[in-house]
Amino acid sequence: MSIYLDCNATTPIEPEVAEKMNNYLTTDFGNEGSHTHSFGSVAKKAVQEATDQVVSLVNASRNEIIFTSGATESNNIAILGLKEFGLNNNKKHIITSAIEHKAVLEPIQELEKLGFEVDIINVDQSGRVNPKDIKDKIREDTLLISIMGVNNETGVIQPISEIIEIILKNLVRFMKD
Ligand SMILES: Cc1ncc(COP(=O)(O)O)c(C=O)c1O
Repeated sequence: MSIYLDCNATTPIEPEVAEKMNNYLTTDFGNEGSHTHSFGSVAKKAVQEATDQVVSLVNASRNEIIFTSGATESNNIAILGLKEFGLNNNKKHIITSAIEHKAVLEPIQELEKLGFEVDIINVDQSGRVNPKDIKDKIREDTLLISIMGVNNETGVIQPISEIIEIILKNLVRFMKD
């Protein structure tokens, strides 16, 4: 018998989710962007309900929720979407770690080709990013710090709360300067 131990990379869908989705994949499969027929309105209502569920789960507002096809698309939108802002505001410095997935590293490399400067933080022997290494690299023109929550190969949980604290403290410092 084989046992799958790589649930940081992908996981089986919960049966109740699969059951709910099966209806929208086979019966109520309309395009939610089509407003001229009932197939579209049924799908739109389902997407709105799903949006509201995510909104209450993560305490956000509706316009902050964007559904994508997966992590690669999300990372590309988030990272490449910062390009104009960075160029227009002279914020062209990026910090990331050596253990990020290529879905993060590749769009960052694209920005590097356009003149953005990238600092890549190495991890220690246990596979962990040291928050102090990030603190040492933060600059006034830092646009983005991208560190994964859990590594998809080692399963090591990164100290995200500590990193966020450091970022917030430094933001305040730069605002005062
Ligand atoms: C950490 C991480 N980021 C991104 C991806 C890419 O995800 P997707 O296949 O949803 O684009 C994976 C997939 O294994 C991943 O583990």
